Amino acid sequence: MIRLEEQEFADIVEYMLGHYGINLEKKKVLIECRMARELEKQGMTSFRGYLELLKKDRTGKIADEMINRLTTNYTYFFREVNHFQILKSEIFPDLFQKKQFGTVNIWCAGCSTGEECYTLTMTLREYTALTGQSASVRILATDISEDALRRAREGIYPIREIESIPLNLRQEYCHVTEDKKSFRIDDRLKENICFKRQNLMDPAAAEKYDLILCRNVMIYFDRASRRKLIKKLENCLTPGGYLLIGHAELLAKEETCLESVHPAVYMANGKERKNL
Ligand SMILES: C[S@@+](CC[C@H](N)C(=O)[O-])C[C@H]1O[C@@H](n2cnc3c(N)ncnc32)[C@H](O)[C@@H]1O
Repeated sequence: MIRLEEQEFADIVEYMLGHYGINLEKKKVLIECRMARELEKQGMTSFRGYLELLKKDRTGKIADEMINRLTTNYTYFFREVNHFQILKSEIFPDLFQKKQFGTVNIWCAGCSTGEECYTLTMTLREYTALTGQSASVRILATDISEDALRRAREGIYPIREIESIPLNLRQEYCHVTEDKKSFRIDDRLKENICFKRQNLMDPAAAEKYDLILCRNVMIYFDRASRRKLIKKLENCLTPGGYLLIGHAELLAKEETCLESVHPAVYMANGKERKNL
């Protein structure tokens, strides 16, 4: 395996932090392991050569491949399951009531390979079937990794992943392939999702969301990028909108103007943000 020299390591850390907010300060071995095949593919014998290539490349392809390798896309269906219970019992009833004649706008930020947004659409369909309530719903699912997004759009998963989906939902929405090695997500779950590449460190667009899921993304960020992201998410919420983050990412009171309504569930209550 090609060894990563200290200066090369520092350059990669700076690049990933500066462009994507991702903190790899303690991940030297991870970089070496995950980049090994990529360096080989590019015919490189050193990280210095690869960094030169990255600098020169105007197509953005080298950077895209690096981001594909260095992001952690770990996810699974019904991850942090109590969030989906709260969605059904509190958040959907509230949003559907407020948006009887409008569209409920949802953003799945850092959606990885799609398990999270398909869990969301399964939960949403379960809720509407149970209550008879309906509203127009639009879901934007974004990630920085094109590889992850391609797999999300495809919606085909290894069969072991089916285990975390409740049986009734498996029967309704998961089609096991003939060789029984994988399963395909039913097209109905994809109907209102738009997958798009987006860097969470870029300035926010004007669009506002009634519900944002940004779970297990900022655990990989440094403090400054985390702050920047929290501010961005706050600005993207409609008044009364909800933010769900990972349970390992809880926000301190001083970090946010959002109101904590459950562990890892926050609500925009219209208060001004304090200057930090
Ligand atoms: C660990 S996964 C979390 C997936 C899912 N939200 C969950 O909780 O299971 C984190 C995702 O965040 C994405 N990510 C990291 N930094 C990002 C950035 N700056 N902009 C957009 N997505 C980013 C990664 O590509 C990865 O797919």
